[in-house]
Amino acid sequence: MAAFKERVFSGVQPTGNLHLGNYLGAIARFVPLQEKYDCIYCVVDMHAITMPPSVWGGPQELKRQIREVTAAFLAAGIDPKRHIVFNQSQVSEHAELAWICNCIARIGWLNRMTQFKEKAGKDRENASVGLYSYPTLMAADILVYRATHVPVGEDQKQHLELTRDVAQKFNNDFAESIAACGFGEAFFPLAEPLIQGPAMRIMSLRDGTKKMSKSDPSDNSRINLTDDADTIAQKIRKAKTDPEPLPSEEKGLEGRPEADNLVGIFAALKGVSRTDVLREFGGGQFSVFKAALIDLAVDRLGPLGAEMKRLVDDPAHIDAVLSDGADRARAIARPVMDAVKDITGFVRRG
Ligand code: AMP
Ligand code: TRP
Repeated sequence: MAAFKERVFSGVQPTGNLHLGNYLGAIARFVPLQEKYDCIYCVVDMHAITMPPSVWGGPQELKRQIREVTAAFLAAGIDPKRHIVFNQSQVSEHAELAWICNCIARIGWLNRMTQFKEKAGKDRENASVGLYSYPTLMAADILVYRATHVPVGEDQKQHLELTRDVAQKFNNDFAESIAACGFGEAFFPLAEPLIQGPAMRIMSLRDGTKKMSKSDPSDNSRINLTDDADTIAQKIRKAKTDPEPLPSEEKGLEGRPEADNLVGIFAALKGVSRTDVLREFGGGQFSVFKAALIDLAVDRLGPLGAEMKRLVDDPAHIDAVLSDGADRARAIARPVMDAVKDITGFVRRG
């Protein structure tokens, strides 16, 4: 495969409050990648509207959430000057390439997507067409920058595989044209998922078998990034556990989803492994471990939440960051989209 310039792309939806899963599984991991790659971090507002407005709260709420996710990016330490931060709907090339991706992806591929099945629920006939084709818009997000690396939580793995399938099929279907247009053997890179570490799947605090999610009706199931110290403490104190003391080794966590989750959260917040955590707390009671987890969580999340609140109070600054990011994103996306048009055979203004 041809060598592609290395570039990171990832997206977060502006729907519902950001929680610890979004932070540890995604946003916190975006930060160190800035040292090694050119990074593009996107608030995927067009993905948000794949669910009905009653779910994401309507236009005013959408605006607020777009700014809040942007604030979380900045508060976590993403540098919008050295890298790119913007919201998806400001760069229309995403929607433009999504149409091509729709024509490349097969219905059978989309039918296998588990996230659609979960989100559509029982009444599948009533789901939006956008929810069904969500993964092809996600493929376009990545491909329109010819991104090579995509940091996400484990729940997005299947969507990334579909992105690779779309890229591969485009490269195959248009191989001759790609070569004739001067792009060699392949136009799109096959983006690699960056999924690793102890926090790829943070589970609900009320049920260790369900992932922590914005859509869980119980607010006690998740820690929101804007929760204050008392709320964080209360939620951790109430978190479900089992009657056994903590094991001393990682294999002792098997079959104990709640214990495994809390140990994983501790490990990710502290930047150590589960084994390290158990070396310290193994054999002890949950109450001792929970007290330490509360201190750690408040220590890490308190300043983050405060900085988010400060940033959200200055929407003009956030909006300026987004439009500057959108300009720089478009400067990359437009030539890619023009090349795709040439490769596909569309006639366009020279
Ligand atoms: P979303 O809010 O669905 O756009 O997700 C934004 C990012 O957070 C994606 O990379 C997800 O994989 C990640 N994410 C969401 N929920 C969790 C979770 N419970 N554990 C780990 N990562 C998560
Ligand atoms: N589908 C992702 C999620 O729900 C968000 C997303 C949209 C994304 N486009 C993307 C993630 C492109 C990575 C790359 O978490």
